[in-house]
Amino acid sequence: MRNKVRACEEAGLHSVLERHDASLSQPELLARIDALNADPAVHGILVQMPLPPQIDPARVIEAVALSKDVDGFHLSSAGALVSGRIDGGVGFRPCTPYGVLHMLDDAAVPIRGSRAVVIGRSNTVGKPMALMLLARDATVTIAHSATPDLAAIVREADIVVSAVGRAATVTADMIKPGAAVVDVGINRDAIGRLVGDVDFDRVRDVAGWISPVPGGVGPMTITMLLDNTVLSAERTSTREGSSR
Ligand code: GUN
Repeated sequence: MRNKVRACEEAGLHSVLERHDASLSQPELLARIDALNADPAVHGILVQMPLPPQIDPARVIEAVALSKDVDGFHLSSAGALVSGRIDGGVGFRPCTPYGVLHMLDDAAVPIRGSRAVVIGRSNTVGKPMALMLLARDATVTIAHSATPDLAAIVREADIVVSAVGRAATVTADMIKPGAAVVDVGINRDAIGRLVGDVDFDRVRDVAGWISPVPGGVGPMTITMLLDNTVLSAERTSTREGSSR
């Protein structure tokens, strides 16, 4: 959250960090969200996860107005992603996979016609990542904890995105020479250092392009959060302009 507030300041977006006690009740939180939904000065609302056990995250996510869902977590944002409606003005893309897509484009990694393997099937990264790559005409496989012979599947991939949260999930022998490898994992190794899912030091010798942990995808998540917020403000001003 500190990094998100700082990024807003640096980019000239007004942000307010509301801290609540971990004993906050679900009705209290929903009432706060309702107030922010109704506030025309607010273009984006983010409820930082994880939440304490008395609060159902699904209820909280669905309480955020779709037009302010800059996390891209709302059911209708997910539906808009599935049906290709986001560029038509409905909902938002989840920030982490959207950031990965920008990184691949910035590195000029060809997506159309490529074979992409996404490891992990979370609602926040794996599933939306696969949909975004599919929308860009990649042939996409989603692998997960019950996938047999992960190595054989990853070896086919021109683009590998790993988002499982287990160190050394992706090793050099699994990588097709020249493939693009994006590490979305955040783990601690045996001596407490931050590491990703990818055995970076060895995979870097085989991959054509690789993003590290830390310093890879993490900052992009925040960047896309700001991008979604600006998009929300632009949509609001377009709506207001057209109703004048
Ligand atoms: N917790 C960790 N990452 C995120 C994120 O991108 N959004 C929200 N709401 N909570 C998080």
